[in-house]
Amino acid sequence: MQILDGRALSKKIEEKVSQEVKNLKSTCGCTPGLAVVLVGQDPASAAYVNMKKKACDRAGFYSITHDMPESISQEAIEKTIVMLNNDTNVDGILIQLPLPEHIDTTKLLELVDPAKDVDGFHPFNVGRLATGLDGFVPCTPLGVMELLREYNIDVKGKNCVVVGASNIVGKPMAALLLNANATVEICHIFTDDLKKHTLAADVVLVGVGVINLITEDMVKDNVVIIDIGVSRTPEGKLVGDVDFENVSKKSSYITPSPGGVGPMTIAMLLSNTVKAAKMNAKKLLEKSEA
Ligand code: GUN
Repeated sequence: MQILDGRALSKKIEEKVSQEVKNLKSTCGCTPGLAVVLVGQDPASAAYVNMKKKACDRAGFYSITHDMPESISQEAIEKTIVMLNNDTNVDGILIQLPLPEHIDTTKLLELVDPAKDVDGFHPFNVGRLATGLDGFVPCTPLGVMELLREYNIDVKGKNCVVVGASNIVGKPMAALLLNANATVEICHIFTDDLKKHTLAADVVLVGVGVINLITEDMVKDNVVIIDIGVSRTPEGKLVGDVDFENVSKKSSYITPSPGGVGPMTIAMLLSNTVKAAKMNAKKLLEKSEA
């Protein structure tokens, strides 16, 4: 069994991103910028945003967080997004999810300029991913693909079972695997007999936030396990969706949680923001030359 070490790989990617930031600064005088919109007081969201901000600082980005109260209106958030779309210091816009119930999340995600959509949640980028075109890809599934690549795990022709069908993780994960020529199944809350599906899988990718959802009797020998879940036990310990101690004994490769996919998500956010900065710098240059 080999551990897929997301912490180590994310460090390597962060170093590469930092170098690219230095190059961008010296060649065109531009600094990649990320704006985060955070609404309300959810402690998990605040913790994620804090980690993202620290990563931006390490990489040498300009970053700004728009902290808004839970009671903020739809119109006020929309105004902020329009302002960020027009701000040339901002290359990437991230709206931390989930948003309060009175907010129309879809409308906000559609308002983000697709060229600044570093989360890959705008239908324009969702469509480009579905058709196998270049665009912005959601950070968590993109990080999973990078981990698989780092360890030379080729999913071509493999049975990959994705557990969880969210727009943030499950659906884009399945699209990426399909684009890499895997045979893909998506299981979800209404799936009858989950074990029947996972037992047939060469690769199980699970991200639903249910502690110990995947147990050793549900997987075959030498399975590859990607645990995208993060939950807190009543004792306060962070754990994934997989019974790591027992499932790891049957696995060829497995991600720990924490320390697997989580750090990769942040590394991919940095990488997507540099990609946006390069695209936006090129566009500005073309405009000034026209
Ligand atoms: N909430 C949980 N995961 C994510 C993510 O990857 N991006 C955003 N914006 N919000 C999230």
